[in-house]
Amino acid sequence: MIEVCLGTACFVRGSGMLLERLEEQIGVTAGETDKNMQFTLRTVRCIGCCALAPAMRIDGVTFGKVKLDKVLDILEQFP
Ligand code: FES
Repeated sequence: MIEVCLGTACFVRGSGMLLERLEEQIGVTAGETDKNMQFTLRTVRCIGCCALAPAMRIDGVTFGKVKLDKVLDILEQFP
């Protein structure tokens, strides 16, 4: 379960672009599960770590200050 924070702090620091990158990489839009049933992508509003914006969570693990060019590296941690 990938949760991208679209709360204010994260949004102004680019979480919208982060969401787009994840959608491209996984091949789904927010609210969907990929055809391999590996990833479900959804959006949330503030996961409580605004200082780490833009932030996302995968299976409960929080990733902060996520850079677009690191998205693939992060996904590969969840084979
Ligand atoms: S707005 Fe994203 S963690 Fe608070």
